[in-house]
Formats: sequence, structure tokens, C-alpha cells
Amino acid sequence: MIEIRNVSQRFAGPQGWIEALHNVNLTIPPGEVFGIIGRSGAGKSTLVRTINLLTRPTEGDIVVNARTLTSLSTAELRQARREIGMIFQHFNLLSSRTVFDNVALPLELAGVKRAEIEATVLPLLELVGLGAQKDRYPSQISGGQKQRVGIARALASKPKVLLSDEATSALDPETTRAILDLLRKINRELNLTIVMITHQMEVIKQVCDRVAVLDAGRVVESGPVIDVFLQPRHEVTRALLGDVIAQELPPALKARVAEHLAKGSGHLLRLAFKGTGVDQPVLSETIRRFELDFNILHGQIDEIQGQAFGSLAVLAGGDPVKVAQAMAWLREQGVVVEELSHVE
Ligand SMILES: Nc1ncnc2c1ncn2[C@@H]1O[C@H](COP(=O)(O)OP(=O)(O)O)[C@@H](O)[C@H]1O
Ligand SMILES: [Mg+2]
Repeated sequence: MIEIRNVSQRFAGPQGWIEALHNVNLTIPPGEVFGIIGRSGAGKSTLVRTINLLTRPTEGDIVVNARTLTSLSTAELRQARREIGMIFQHFNLLSSRTVFDNVALPLELAGVKRAEIEATVLPLLELVGLGAQKDRYPSQISGGQKQRVGIARALASKPKVLLSDEATSALDPETTRAILDLLRKINRELNLTIVMITHQMEVIKQVCDRVAVLDAGRVVESGPVIDVFLQPRHEVTRALLGDVIAQELPPALKARVAEHLAKGSGHLLRLAFKGTGVDQPVLSETIRRFELDFNILHGQIDEIQGQAFGSLAVLAGGDPVKVAQAMAWLREQGVVVEELSHVE
């Protein structure tokens, strides 16, 4: 369990103070993959660095596994940090060391004996799929393999928490998927709590249980990933979701829809479903019941953490009273319904 309590972080900038984090409160349950997403400059790296006190917060406390890191002595903090591993966007490997020796480094620094180092490092290399590459140098392996080394190195001191700051941002989509699958596997097999920092909603969708959205140093929204996808409340969340759930209408349709909305001859609805709601013929039932004319403009069915998730943009024509009744009925069926007054 990680608790971030009332954390603020100020830096001295050329034009005065920069408030990189403003009163951040988050509780990260043990064993979860917890995503923190935000645009560039939102404060994500600052936040993840405060979790292991690489940056000490100006205000507030960090509690990891019931220990308040912010009140530990230097020696105690060094010990506590061994329980927190970290991986980075640019891997931070030592080019003069082999794969094996990169992973062994934190153990060497901690004074662990050679035999014990081998007994730890070899299984870790197998776990991340690098058994055959142990004697290669970083320049001889791919980006995805470099990140696998980074992951194995982070796991060498048997941490309970893994912090990941944009660990897949330098990788292509296919390699990203493979690394995220590996992180998920490690999360499950080692019961490791993972904090994933990213600017990509795709990453959140693929591996995270929960997500917090950071904007200008503040948490503007948080919750289980599927709930945030169903009903994003903050504009930043919507913008970040845009590329994943394709909220925007195809351009060719926009003008026609805008015309309908201007004339008052249609209601633009965004419907979102999860779980069984996706399979049920809710939509055709609605059309029959309320004698409406539903024109589906855009739709998508997806899967988030094993749960089906669907989103649809619909232009509903017909008696406005019936449209309102249909919206209420859809909500009773567990569909998230939102009426849009204009085309974005
Ligand atoms: N050490 C620092 N000194 C001064 N300003 C910093 C420092 N670290 C980060 N910042 C500022 O804090 C803000 C958040 O940065 P950062 O946490 O790196 O954002 P993100 O990782 O979300 O892109 C930015 O305005 C950045 O310039
Ligand atoms: Mg960053």
C-alpha cells in the first residue's frame, strides 16, 4: 500500500515558484497496477520521484507499506528504498556492463556475495525472457530487451513496489504491448504493486486496474479504469481518452450532425456500456419502446481488463419527450448516457 498524503512540491523557477504538485492525495492498494496519466509537464515524474523520495516533497507525507518515508533517517530511508524498484523511459543501463552485470549491479552495491547474486539474477533473466542474452552488452540488444534488463535490475532487490516512469514511451506499439504484458505477469506472479506513469491512455487501458489523472500538479480524476473510461468527468481525461475510444465523430458526419442540432431536429447522445450491457440488444429495444429513429454515427466495442466495453455516438430523432424517456430508460439498463449540445 502506498499513500500519498497532502503532497505539494514547489521548485524555484526563473520567474518565481513553480508548483509542480498541489496537495496530491492518492491511495494505491497493494498488488494493483495503478496508472497515473497526464499531459507533458503535469507533474507525473515529480510525483513518481516523491514516492521514493528521490525528490523530497515540500509538504505532505509518503507512506509505503505502513512506513512513513518522509520521517525516516537517511539510513532507514536507504533500507526502505530497497523495497521500491524503478524503471525509466531511457532504460538507464550501463553500456560497459553486460546484461547480467547490469542486473547484478544493485546487489553488488549492497555487498551481496557472488553465488547469491547468480542465484538471484539468473532466474530473473529467465523471468523477463533474457536467459540467452545474459552476456550481451546493451548496444547488442533491442529497445524492448533493454527495458527487460531494466525490469530485471529493478526486481533484483526483491521490491514490493515497482515505479515505472514512461517505461514504454520509447518503444514501438508492438514492443510496448509485450513489455506491458510482462509487467502484468510480474504484478500477478510476484504480487508486486506497480505505479505506471504514462501519457498514453492505451497503456492505462492495457494494464492498469485504477487510474488517476494529473493536470497542472493536481489529481483531477481517479477511479477504476473501466469507470473512468465509461464516464470521464474532466476535460483532460476526455482529451486523453480521445485517441483510445475515438470520441470524435468522423469529419464528414460532423457538419450534418451540427445542422440537425441547430434545427433542433435531433439529439446527439453518447452511450457507453460495460460488461453484459454490450451484448444485450438494449439499443433495438429502446428504439422499439420509444418509437425513435436512432442513427448510429460511430461505435466501438473494446475490452478493458477482461471486461467488454462499448461506446456509441447516436443521433436520436423523434418526439423530444420520448427521447428523454429513452435516456432515462437506458440509464436504468446501466448505460451511461450523455447528451451533447454541440459537435466537438
Ligand atoms: N528539479 C526541478 N526544478 C524546477 N522545475 C522542475 C523540476 N522538476 C520538474 N520541474 C517542473 O515541474 C513541472 C512538472 O514536471 P514533470 O514532473 O517533469 O512533468 P511530467 O513528468 O508530467 O511531464 C514542470 O513545469 C517542470 O518544468
Ligand atoms: Mg515525465
